[in-house]
Amino acid sequence: MANSDAKRLAASAAVKHVRDGMVIGVGTGSTVSCFIEFLGEMVREGLRVLAVPTSYQSAILLAEQGVPLTTLVEHPSLDLVVDGADEVDSDLNLIKGGGGALTQEKIVASATEHLIIIVDSSKLVKRLGETRGVPLEVIPMAWKLVKIRLEGKGAKAVLREGSGKVGPVVTDNGNFILDAHFPEISNPEALERELKFIPGVVENGLFVGMTETVYVGSVEGLKVLRKK
Ligand code: 5RP
Repeated sequence: MANSDAKRLAASAAVKHVRDGMVIGVGTGSTVSCFIEFLGEMVREGLRVLAVPTSYQSAILLAEQGVPLTTLVEHPSLDLVVDGADEVDSDLNLIKGGGGALTQEKIVASATEHLIIIVDSSKLVKRLGETRGVPLEVIPMAWKLVKIRLEGKGAKAVLREGSGKVGPVVTDNGNFILDAHFPEISNPEALERELKFIPGVVENGLFVGMTETVYVGSVEGLKVLRKK
């Protein structure tokens, strides 16, 4: 099974949670793109749903699929949010922000009691930080200061560079991204709070205690992980 099939499998499980009349939050990334495709099919078959996107990517894909968009101003409480992740640990804590959309993703995830995460099995880890750094969205003028603060906490912090443009990645909110590689993340909850406290940090990619269900697609089929 190709990786894209595993993502589609996870996405097809999540779309079964969507009911007529729901207002849902829609994450960002390649796995969520599969979810948006399935959602579009359902909308064309008559499903009435409103979606709050978490990025320009999702907003464009949803519009292309004919899914009506709304905002948190009109709908501050969401029936369901579906998103991808870069890492998932056994407590269903996450690292997100590989696509740089972590801030809007965390805001939208905080607007529901039902956050469903869809991943392929390569995203499962024993400990967060095993395969990548923690992304932080940072106000541009503060990036060097934040990098120094992170290095003071033992992390290697790298300013994320993009493709299609020279220089740093600029997020949908006009900010920079630092990827902070910690030697070990033993307490994700404490680290999430600590990172939020650094002046200039808008948000960090640790999502602790937010996820209700994770659908994992792999060659062996679909696995469901639920909050204990
Ligand atoms: C974007 C994210 C994505 O959800 C995460 O990067 C997973 O993406 P993909 O489904 O393409 O692997 O957090 O900021």
